[in-house]
Amino acid sequence: MAKSKIKFICANCGFESLKWLGKCPSCDEWNSFSEELVEERKASVKKSAHAKEVKTLDSITELSEERIKFGINEFDRVLGGGIIHGSAVLIGGDPGIGKSTLVLQALAKLKEKVLYVTGEESLRQIKLRAKRLNITSTNILLLAETDLDLISATIKDVEPAIVVIDSIQTVYLPDLDNAPGTVTQIRECTNFIMQFAKKTGFSALIIGHVTKEGVIAGPKILEHIVDTVLQFEGERNHSYRILRATKNRFGSTNEIGIFEMHEDGLEEVKNPSEIFLSERDENVNGSVVTSSIEGTRPVLLEVQALVTPSNFGNPQRVATGFDYRRLSILLAVLEKRANLRISAHNVFLNMAGGIRIEEPAVDLAVCCSIASSYLNKPAKTEMLIIGEVGLGGEIRSVSHIEKRIQEAEKLGFSSVVLPKNNLKSIKQNNKIELIPVDSIIKAINIVI
Ligand code: TYD
Ligand code: MG
Repeated sequence: MAKSKIKFICANCGFESLKWLGKCPSCDEWNSFSEELVEERKASVKKSAHAKEVKTLDSITELSEERIKFGINEFDRVLGGGIIHGSAVLIGGDPGIGKSTLVLQALAKLKEKVLYVTGEESLRQIKLRAKRLNITSTNILLLAETDLDLISATIKDVEPAIVVIDSIQTVYLPDLDNAPGTVTQIRECTNFIMQFAKKTGFSALIIGHVTKEGVIAGPKILEHIVDTVLQFEGERNHSYRILRATKNRFGSTNEIGIFEMHEDGLEEVKNPSEIFLSERDENVNGSVVTSSIEGTRPVLLEVQALVTPSNFGNPQRVATGFDYRRLSILLAVLEKRANLRISAHNVFLNMAGGIRIEEPAVDLAVCCSIASSYLNKPAKTEMLIIGEVGLGGEIRSVSHIEKRIQEAEKLGFSSVVLPKNNLKSIKQNNKIELIPVDSIIKAINIVI
């Protein structure tokens, strides 16, 4: 028989413990444990259970992937070309980042019937938002309800193609003793919606809040349940928003969608390079332009560095949008291989526009921007800088070099500094001048 037991569960990652802990040993969150009732099941085969028929892989007939396209290019692309019938997509993000806005705008162009279940806002508030976004669709049905039993009965009755749950933290299954928003409720509700979607054939868009404090259970515990996890992120003070797939059973996780938040809703950013370079001041020390591949698209962006003498104690190193450890390595390479005495200087590095870059292809640009600020000389403005930097100060080749060159050409750059080893892989003729380099010293001498 199932037995109930009290356990403490981390709201951030779902780690279970028998006693309360101040800090989660699994994800290092502080103060994230809450007491919950957990049902335990013995791992033995029930008498009533009987074996089921199994099938060979080749005997299963393929179903054609049926997707609903939302007609918002940036959104559809991140999903992998639209949402699959019967699948569940989780959209996570900080409160106030624009999740409800994004979803409402995505629904606006659909021909299919949609049920928008809101547990956070009243129907009036949704109407106000829709008015602000100029949405007049007659296909969007609204329901203000948090009891999942009532919601599922309504879904059965209405038979929508898409169901939006805004947000998963507010809905609850009345059979469970836990309060809405607890780990158990959120997990069971998501499971329930997921199974129900598979059985009934609707696609579910589930909105979930992430909070840094871990007060409300974060979507992290749901990641392995749902088919697709999208992360909607951005800085509050910037108007750019980035939609990123962190898990996708039906598509790539490399794609990102870029939006800009306006007074009347989110607008797709079709050409990100222009935006990330739009505020560039060309004759400033420490500013260079590089190219990063985001998903399948090259994005040109400005790297800014500020190097100042440190008068006391340990020099500071601050990186925004770039890995801190990677910055430390590059500083060591600059010190040793390019003879720049940076160790007594503060270094501040910034990827302009609020974007976060993980690709090593921006290494050389980071080094050049730091060198430019340190030497107090502006870098050449019409030059794009690409390359990975090795510990020996050598410049290593990068992927997708042709795409990056094309983008630079399109945006009017006159030359590209690139790894020498990449030259072999360039087949097309470019109008833009290619400057191959093999060491960091040579690159700095050319760029600055
Ligand atoms: P919202 O979609 O409610 O965020 P979430 O569902 O993620 O909590 O949007 C929140 C912010 O977006 C709010 O502070 C106001 C702003 N906003 C605009 O700037 N323009 C708009 O057209 C809309 C609808 C919202
Ligand atoms: Mg909302």
